[in-house]
Amino acid sequence: MSFQAGSAPYFEALREYAAKEPARLHVPGHKGGAGADPELLEVLGEGALGLDIPALTYGIDVGPLPTPFEGAQELAARAWGSRRAWFLINGASQGNLAAGLALAHYGDAVIVQRNSHSSVIDALVLAGLRPTFAQPEVDSDLGIAHCLAPRTLEIALELTPTAVGAWVTSPTYFGAVADIRALAEIAHRRGVPLIVDEAWGAHLAFHEDLPEHALACGADLVISSTHKIVGSLTQSAILHLGSAHGSVGADELIGADVVDRAVTLIESTSPNSLLMASLDAARRQAVREGRELLGHTMAVLEETRAQIRAIDGLDVLDERMAGRPGVFAYDPLRVAVDLRGLAAGGYELAPILREIDDINLELYGQNVIVAVFGMAERSMKEAPRFVRALRVAAERVGVDPSGEQATFAPPPPWGELAMTPREAYLGRQEVVPALSASGRIAAESLATYPPGIPNVLPGERLTDETLSYIERTLELGGSIRGASDRALRTIRVVVE
Ligand SMILES: Cc1ncc(COP(=O)(O)O)c(C=O)c1O
Repeated sequence: MSFQAGSAPYFEALREYAAKEPARLHVPGHKGGAGADPELLEVLGEGALGLDIPALTYGIDVGPLPTPFEGAQELAARAWGSRRAWFLINGASQGNLAAGLALAHYGDAVIVQRNSHSSVIDALVLAGLRPTFAQPEVDSDLGIAHCLAPRTLEIALELTPTAVGAWVTSPTYFGAVADIRALAEIAHRRGVPLIVDEAWGAHLAFHEDLPEHALACGADLVISSTHKIVGSLTQSAILHLGSAHGSVGADELIGADVVDRAVTLIESTSPNSLLMASLDAARRQAVREGRELLGHTMAVLEETRAQIRAIDGLDVLDERMAGRPGVFAYDPLRVAVDLRGLAAGGYELAPILREIDDINLELYGQNVIVAVFGMAERSMKEAPRFVRALRVAAERVGVDPSGEQATFAPPPPWGELAMTPREAYLGRQEVVPALSASGRIAAESLATYPPGIPNVLPGERLTDETLSYIERTLELGGSIRGASDRALRTIRVVVE
């Protein structure tokens, strides 16, 4: 049996199950809503709770083959052009963990973009991988990090001949898209699969005016946070295995069976059916209407950017970024506003925008704030509302009379990787004053903003230069992420 792209077999099977009022002699205990807290039932509705059913339900994910669940995943693979797709119920974070566990079947050395999401670092811990970190390109004017340049990957692979994978992130939070085609070619030349954390790019496959998506450019394993911009429910995501680009001769660079086992290992045995149904429905929507919806959203956002540019003191990031180091293309579904011309940075502006008109941003840093738009922003009421609030806020804080910004010196080199992130994570640890931490092995991450590239990761030896750089950044008004003590009076280190 073959499923039609215009259908949503898993979602439809759930609806049919709920509609026939079955005897629910199975979990969950709310029994399709009847046993739920009345207020919860009122808010979520019988429609939603009725679809909340357990795994291994006949006619849904067991029974005649292919099951609707298999059909839904197959349609997702077809929609994005992958060899196989896995629905995930613990976000793109689960996809990264599964990617790490899959790679660990082939060896332990991997190339990892230094400013990867924390779930990639968690994957290194979980899978016991030994990273060679690759530095993304940094835009020192904007104080943000972009993508990995192909040449940087080439050098990292030369330095790590035993690498079993190269792991990059594209698009970034700010909309920069990497040259995945070139990165994939470089990786494949060395017989290594390219893993792309495309958490922010699930929509790229559905409009020709958007940058090409990673699977189309030859990536071998792609992590897609479908909930971020395509409209599935929070926590749902998809892991895709590349179609064939990653084959070297007859050998696959990553086996589907290996990925399958990795996904299962870190998944609940009770995956939430609502999350999976939302993936199935969102995929159907993207296939049927994605092009039109995205076209409309992009047109409105182009106009939005023009209006923001016209506000005194403001600029936007846009396709002019393409061609800068580490930026191959730009994803217009983000509205990233450059605040350098204002007398206030993002940390001051974000609460002002909330106060003016309850504007809640995806991200704010010193120089740039980011508003995220979804694939299907039908009415787009939020875009003019954002512009109006920005106008009021910019007027209130005023333009920067001097044009001066705190400048952050380039960070010192990372400390030596004295043990793997896993050894550091599992090793005996103690908390020591930062002043006496130099020479010790870090058990936690320290990433100063701007630009948010970790200065220290678990397993690395702390150096005087790094510690004083972090201190100086904090004094200049920067911030730190990952540290258990945000004021950095103390640091968690390994007991050697
Ligand atoms: C690049 C990147 N990868 C992975 C993740 C994790 O995604 P999720 O929240 O879906 O687990 C995020 C989350 O923001 C991200 O930005």
